[in-house]
Amino acid sequence: MKHNNILKNVVRTASKLLVKRVPYNPDNHYLETIFAPVHQEHTATQLKVKGQIPTALNGILTRIGPNPKKVDNPGNHSWFVGDGMVHGVRIQNGQAIWYRNRYIADTSQDHALEQQLGAQRGIGGAVNTNIIGHGGRLWALVEAGSFPVELNSELTSVHVGLFDSSMNNGFTAHPHLDPQTGELHAICYDALKQNHVTYLVIDQHCHVKNKVSIPVKHGPMMHDGAMTSKSMILFDLPVTFSGKDILKGASLPYRWNPKHPARVGVLPRNGKAEDVHWLTVDPCFVFHSCNAFERDNGEIIVDVVVHPKMFASDLTVKTGPELGVTTFERWTLSPNSNKVQRQVIHTEPQEFPRFDERLAGQSYRHAYSISLPMNGNTSLPNQLLHYDLQTGEINRHSYGANEVTGEVVFVPRSPDAPENDGWLMSYVHDLNCGNSKIVILDSLNLGGEPVAEIELPVRVPMGFHGNWIADTV
Ligand SMILES: [Fe+2]
Repeated sequence: MKHNNILKNVVRTASKLLVKRVPYNPDNHYLETIFAPVHQEHTATQLKVKGQIPTALNGILTRIGPNPKKVDNPGNHSWFVGDGMVHGVRIQNGQAIWYRNRYIADTSQDHALEQQLGAQRGIGGAVNTNIIGHGGRLWALVEAGSFPVELNSELTSVHVGLFDSSMNNGFTAHPHLDPQTGELHAICYDALKQNHVTYLVIDQHCHVKNKVSIPVKHGPMMHDGAMTSKSMILFDLPVTFSGKDILKGASLPYRWNPKHPARVGVLPRNGKAEDVHWLTVDPCFVFHSCNAFERDNGEIIVDVVVHPKMFASDLTVKTGPELGVTTFERWTLSPNSNKVQRQVIHTEPQEFPRFDERLAGQSYRHAYSISLPMNGNTSLPNQLLHYDLQTGEINRHSYGANEVTGEVVFVPRSPDAPENDGWLMSYVHDLNCGNSKIVILDSLNLGGEPVAEIELPVRVPMGFHGNWIADTV
């Protein structure tokens, strides 16, 4: 623990000193336009609504992303780093009650939180990637060694730690909730522990139920895993920790590593590290899985958005992920094969795959994602894509000629509504940098008029993930 903290401080100090040697490069669009950070925390009430918010929706629509207070060198600032900021809109009885945005773990305002963070921050530091509800509480998440940050119902940070455990283990931004048990299943990696990753199970009361340490090489970035009703899937792909790139001044110490064999692991949920069945896959990178499930013949199906490469260009000048070329794919992992079978579902560039999470780990039919602007041109509008994986049909929704949607969340119309019967909710950003809005679509009427639009009093920067935190969670 002590050794780790010393190492963390050395790496942080070295990277701060060395970053300043990189020539200034003003062309960093992750600090401009729809990505530009905002600098004030707001609370606004009685928001203006166009249309009618369904009265069945009672909860908070959250979204989080990086929102750096200060950037030492804009030229090599990565989109993935920087202080986190949560945005939330509270909806109740058909009304938009409030909008709030808050820095995550703003230590300038809270000394106790600063002390909690002091020893526990991983190399990535800022918690800026996902927001979930678990155990009736709100949690902001990031990967690479940092701990979750608990938020209260008004989005203020109140606690840092591995949920209610004192275990010294960082978490992930993408745990998978098993709807059958209420447990979170997570594949976690730590930038400072490059020879293993960890499978953690957090029970519905926020305690660690199981921990399995799985040996790996080179410190692979595992942004997400996948979960079936019986197994966890690990994406051990060739993006690995790169101390050399820190020394060169890169703000994100991960790089495409052709020497790292690409493989996918299947770990039985009740198994040990030696039980992992590894299958080879052609070199590629996966940030996000959609759903995964088991067939009666023992095959495992995993739907993923695949990037041909990631962080392969010079990280001292490349400030974000290489976007613009992805495919949505169905991967089949057979117990009798040592190679992943890949089938392309759709070739249009896209990211942020989601589904009806009542079916997590089980066979499903409907998936959603958002299209990415061609060639990574972030000044273009995008669309919501809806896949019927049974018929192969793809439906779309365009938000407008000047509008970009962030990740879209599916919310069922009622607890027992059929799959894909509900609403698709997202934060929508104005390419001209005007105020943002929440758009609520009827999932059975894509392409039609939104059910409701909630006007926000400010611009929300384009960020990463969010969720609908229903009052019953
Ligand atoms: Fe993610």
